[in-house]
Amino acid sequence: MKEKLQKIRERAIAEIQNSDGLEKLGEVRNTILGKKGELTAVLKGMKDVPPEDRPKVGQWVNETREAIESILAEQTKKLEAEALRLRYEAEKIDVTMPAVKPAKGNLHPITQVRNQLTDIFASMGFEIYEGTEIETDYYNFTALNTPQDHPARDMQDTFYLSPEFLLRTQTSAGQIHVMEAKKPPIKIISPGKVFRSDDDATHSPMFTQMEGLVVDKGITLCDLKGMLDEFVKKIFGKNVTTRLRPSYFPFTEPSVEVDVSCFQCGGKGCKLCKGTGWIEVLGAGVVNNKVLEGCGVDTNEYSGFAFGIGIERIAMLKYGINNIKLLFESDLRVLNQIDD
Ligand code: DAH
Repeated sequence: MKEKLQKIRERAIAEIQNSDGLEKLGEVRNTILGKKGELTAVLKGMKDVPPEDRPKVGQWVNETREAIESILAEQTKKLEAEALRLRYEAEKIDVTMPAVKPAKGNLHPITQVRNQLTDIFASMGFEIYEGTEIETDYYNFTALNTPQDHPARDMQDTFYLSPEFLLRTQTSAGQIHVMEAKKPPIKIISPGKVFRSDDDATHSPMFTQMEGLVVDKGITLCDLKGMLDEFVKKIFGKNVTTRLRPSYFPFTEPSVEVDVSCFQCGGKGCKLCKGTGWIEVLGAGVVNNKVLEGCGVDTNEYSGFAFGIGIERIAMLKYGINNIKLLFESDLRVLNQIDD
């Protein structure tokens, strides 16, 4: 009997020490100490041991059990420590490593330029009026001194929704709404989408404009010129100046085309300014008395100037974009480069 117990003990110890995981250790414990385990079987067989030998054999069995259990506990501790070490190793974080930067988007170039323009004009005291994209023929044309048979209508290929309603072709429509709603002094800008049946490298059927309107006592073309000089310095750089060229718009008299001195070559002539030293950026003028009178403004007392800026045009010039379509294709390779 003693020998048998000795064998169980040796084998158990060897198996325990060879166990390389907690699961394996559990199995070994079961085969020796479990309900159907070897040592349990010996205990069950005690009834066959002669009564006088039982205390002795009982003591051997207990010793064997204690020895196995103590080795088992030791090995369990060791394997648990190892499992924890491996877990720590796998979950290790190096807090000194540079962080992975989350991808960050930026505003669309049109929105960026629109915000820049809005900030500049707001700093000069302009209020913002947002008109509607659907307009009536009256606000988009007639009230702007462009009646039904006026040749200037041909300049703006219009998307009509019905004989009365259309998609506005110009933010100028907002001028009329503002003057109908408010008495002078008026000093507003009106940014927004406009629509024309026009499509090439520099024109898109939908684009963005910013209208400006100032109506007050004694407003002249000089006020317009002074304000524009300030404006172009802020948007293109402090060495940039403006030049006014005579032009025609039905709602202004006189009307001008505004050029800026080329901010790329400083006026010497380059590819951007096509060798002229000047770049056309917007249309403007002194508000036609017919328009003011149509809105009930007393032209003996008040006068005004107005201007219309193409936001895509400014964005294309500022960021060197040669095709307007690049602004509407949502190609991140293009958009990611413009974060002003
Ligand atoms: N509405 C004109 C256009 O779309 C731009 C413009 C020109 C607006 C002169 C004005 C202005 O307010 O005075 O081409």
